[in-house]
Amino acid sequence: MKIDGEITLPGDKSISHRSLIFGALTSGTSKLFNLSDGEDVKSTISCLKDCNVKIVENRNYTTVNGDEFSKPNKALHCGNSGTTARLLAGLLANKKINATLIGDKSLSKRPMHRIIKPLTEMGSIIDSNDNFLPIKIKTNTLHGIDYQSQISSAQLKSCILIAALTANTKTAFTEPYLSRNHSELFLKSLGAKIYTKKNRIEIMPFQKLNAFNIKIPSDISSASFFITAALLMPNSKLYFKNMLLNETRLGFVKILKKYGADISSITGNIIHGEKVGNLTINYSIIKPFKIDEEKIPSMIDEIPLLAILATKAKGISIVRGAKELRYKECDRIKAICHNLKRMNAKVEELEDGFIIEGPSNLEPRKIHTFNDHRIAMAFTILNKSLNGTYNLDNTNCIKVSYPNFIKDMNSLMQ
Ligand code: S3P
Repeated sequence: MKIDGEITLPGDKSISHRSLIFGALTSGTSKLFNLSDGEDVKSTISCLKDCNVKIVENRNYTTVNGDEFSKPNKALHCGNSGTTARLLAGLLANKKINATLIGDKSLSKRPMHRIIKPLTEMGSIIDSNDNFLPIKIKTNTLHGIDYQSQISSAQLKSCILIAALTANTKTAFTEPYLSRNHSELFLKSLGAKIYTKKNRIEIMPFQKLNAFNIKIPSDISSASFFITAALLMPNSKLYFKNMLLNETRLGFVKILKKYGADISSITGNIIHGEKVGNLTINYSIIKPFKIDEEKIPSMIDEIPLLAILATKAKGISIVRGAKELRYKECDRIKAICHNLKRMNAKVEELEDGFIIEGPSNLEPRKIHTFNDHRIAMAFTILNKSLNGTYNLDNTNCIKVSYPNFIKDMNSLMQ
């Protein structure tokens, strides 16, 4: 069995959320092409619609107009989406709209203190369920802050940048390592006064931004499942078009290249500050790898895939400094180690990562997804490479980011 072909994937999830939220923030009508069709992005759409943002979903594009943005008459349901909850909190503070944010069972267990603390310092009044959802936001005046974050999180950073646009003084935000920088690139392309130096951003207040058009580049995190498949199955080769090639998202691709993968990319154009181009991958043998904390933010969503590849590499692979994985849609360190152990891999779970010794003679097993889309897709790829089938306790969770994943995978596998 091998994976072979050419594919253009749906729009990047992170940029889709931002396109909708920035569309709601600017004045006039924005036009979005190639929006992600995942449930998470639908959660952002429905929350914005509940705030009277006019969103029209046409066949090939979606329009957003936030001119009527106003107080919702019910709680905003963010579904499974951390990006929706955290960015929306920043947007509500920006617009001085009082609202309550709620989420599903998984999102209700994810930490919100990270946004509550800085938003409160800026002047919002936030009631929460002990720093978890539901949170109730009330904002009058916002003040600029100089915030040193203890964690590298793009959701947190974006929340603060969005709020800071209507603060009465400058805001600065510093994070330990640079997390994905879509918000700062996008806002800058819309004319916001943002200055970045390494991991520090300064953003000026009182800014009015204009509507935009965007063709959203394809999701590099979705592509990573198929990149992994190509590295598991000899003779595979894949070609991705219109791919997001932002450096802060390429940690997975870079580490694979460093340890032996035959991957090449060509940048074509720049879209709202984002590099976009084509990517080619050929089957190759990967050496064991070691990954430290500073690299984690650039590959945060791809770590389950690295774990899978580590079971094939000859020797010991180590991932450390990845404690943030415990606060994702599920505890991903636990989910990775649990499933790999059931398949007979040699895995040691660490508080902030794992150690895997390969190669192992893995046996396909029913996958426990923990209702997490990335765990479901990563292990589907692994099972498929082992015996040509897949077996999950829940396929429904895949819809969160990539509803057509199984269909696309089957069309590329030979
Ligand atoms: C995202 C940021 C990341 C990532 C998530 C999407 C975003 O989380 O895991 O899937 O769109 O900002 P962090 O907040 O940990 O950076």
